[in-house]
Amino acid sequence: MDEKKRQKHLQIMEIQTWEVRKSEQIKGADMATHKRKKAVEEEVKQPAKATSKKAVTLNQEKPIAELTWKELEEQVANCTRCDLYKTRTQTVFGVGNRQADLLIIGEAPGSNEDKQGEPFVGRAGKLLNSMLHAINLSREEIFIANILKSRPPNNRDPKPEEVAACTPFLLRQITLLKPKLILAVGRIAAQFLLNTTEAMGKLRGQEFTYGPYHTPLLVTYHPAYLLRAPREKRKSWDDLQLVVKRLEQLSHK
Ligand code: URA
Repeated sequence: MDEKKRQKHLQIMEIQTWEVRKSEQIKGADMATHKRKKAVEEEVKQPAKATSKKAVTLNQEKPIAELTWKELEEQVANCTRCDLYKTRTQTVFGVGNRQADLLIIGEAPGSNEDKQGEPFVGRAGKLLNSMLHAINLSREEIFIANILKSRPPNNRDPKPEEVAACTPFLLRQITLLKPKLILAVGRIAAQFLLNTTEAMGKLRGQEFTYGPYHTPLLVTYHPAYLLRAPREKRKSWDDLQLVVKRLEQLSHK
């Protein structure tokens, strides 16, 4: 990207000046514990429980881990694996290129996403788009999903049992997608994916792995947080530079 364009995107992100990191500390630490992995593995083996009227016509015997994209979309749309189906308008499956190198994982749909059925379409989504543009990527080139496919009422934090119920869907998305890199946005997504209570300040700048293929995973701030704390945008720019660097390296592997 030429310098003028980059300046424009940095302006959109309201970043005045920046420095590209010379070296990043990358550790290959996978923090997911054996116990949590086991619980999720067990969930994955279970057929999707779908009890809505429409779901009765779906193939409920097939384990989530064997579903095609189309079947997975149908199972998600009709999912009643946790109580969030009672309050959601619709599920938010995820959007983007199913051959994408980069998978962005957020927390859960908010009210705009619940209405539109697409992740990151509100104010935070607009900032996410600008952040992507700043590194020369568009929503259409990557895949964006959330840990939860249904909106928690009043945007409360996801409950562990909701995450456990929804994780097999995310794992299947990852298996079908086979991204080269995952970017977890926000504390909640990062902490659930990595099964840790570490603060964001400790998680950013490190590389972890996640999912069936031990996909490299980086962490950055949630755009909604950046809207509240614009000073942190400079750090998120550092994180994005690391994303670019790793995508470049991983595409040559
Ligand atoms: N916040 C998220 O984490 N995901 C969305 O889809 C929207 C807002």
